[in-house]
Amino acid sequence: MPKLIVVTREGEERQVEGDVGLSVMEVIRDAGIDELLALCGGCCSCATCHVHVDPDFADRLPAMSEDENELLAISDDRDATSRLSCQIQFTPALDGMRVTIAAED
Ligand code: FES
Repeated sequence: MPKLIVVTREGEERQVEGDVGLSVMEVIRDAGIDELLALCGGCCSCATCHVHVDPDFADRLPAMSEDENELLAISDDRDATSRLSCQIQFTPALDGMRVTIAAED
């Protein structure tokens, strides 16, 4: 199974395995990392699944939708690496990707 490296808000780094076909948000949630609230369950309407993605993987990510862009626009912690983790399908191409959970807004 491909692996994901998750950095929590406290700076703790955890390596977790994820099923292909899940979203990155679901992989993080299923690993028991509950600081990623994902309140809307993945339907791109809450922005509580905000993560910062390793720039080395940027070209392997799906394009950002207008809805995702608008939701991220209201986050104080947004930067060029920001994505909503529920909008990223976990694939073998993302094996070893590091994501850092964004600050709470
Ligand atoms: S879980 Fe709500 S936008 Fe991702």
